[in-house]
Amino acid sequence: MPMSTYRIAPSILSADFARLGEEVTAVVAAGADMIHFDVMDNHYVPNLTVGPLVCEAIRPLTQAVIDVHLMVKPVDRIIPDFAQAGAGIISFHPEASEHVDRTIDLIHDSGCKAGLALSPATPLGCLDHVLHKLDLVLVMSVNPGFAGQQFIPHALEKIRLIRKRIDAETRSSARELMLEVDGGVKVENIGTIARAGADTFVAGSAIFGSRDYPGSIAAMREALKLAGSAR
Ligand code: DX5
Ligand code: ZN
Repeated sequence: MPMSTYRIAPSILSADFARLGEEVTAVVAAGADMIHFDVMDNHYVPNLTVGPLVCEAIRPLTQAVIDVHLMVKPVDRIIPDFAQAGAGIISFHPEASEHVDRTIDLIHDSGCKAGLALSPATPLGCLDHVLHKLDLVLVMSVNPGFAGQQFIPHALEKIRLIRKRIDAETRSSARELMLEVDGGVKVENIGTIARAGADTFVAGSAIFGSRDYPGSIAAMREALKLAGSAR
């Protein structure tokens, strides 16, 4: 896969929330392609984070796409609010929607790209009948709810299988379907994850926990370059 197609999306979950605006600006200046925005409701997942107001507050600070990952249930009510607040991509978990196809349509009708997020135990069957209308598949390599967890190795097999399905799906069309991985992504494993077929990488603690954002992102890109040439 050419380098230019790899995207790095720092998750603000590990940012310093007292200085969130500066953190977003700094990470984009350091080379981030997107801002990953984790939304948790203390219901679908056992943690509580931020909503559309915070998305709206960071929107003017960057041109980078805001990649909203909804870990909330129910999900439909809040989608137009995030679209209004400047989200570029909105992903949700199939277990959090009564009507997955309708939720995808709602995201598109709100003017955003739509992603489906698969938790570690979510079977690939949830992609049946909807893959053709998705813009992104988000493979969770930790159970959703917290930053700083260990990458679950079994996710690699899932990424390989989804890569095959995405390639088959996009072979006859020019449309883009991203394969994003979220949870426990580090400089040390990003190359292996890329070789399994991912093209978009969320990293929270590995970037915001490092203090040297440009250095961390550059090290990830270097590892991706090596992975790309080894393919
Ligand atoms: C977990 C979130 C992730 C998380 C990643 O539920 O969806 O985006 O912030 O954090 P790290 O990279 O530290 O695993
Ligand atoms: Zn996330």
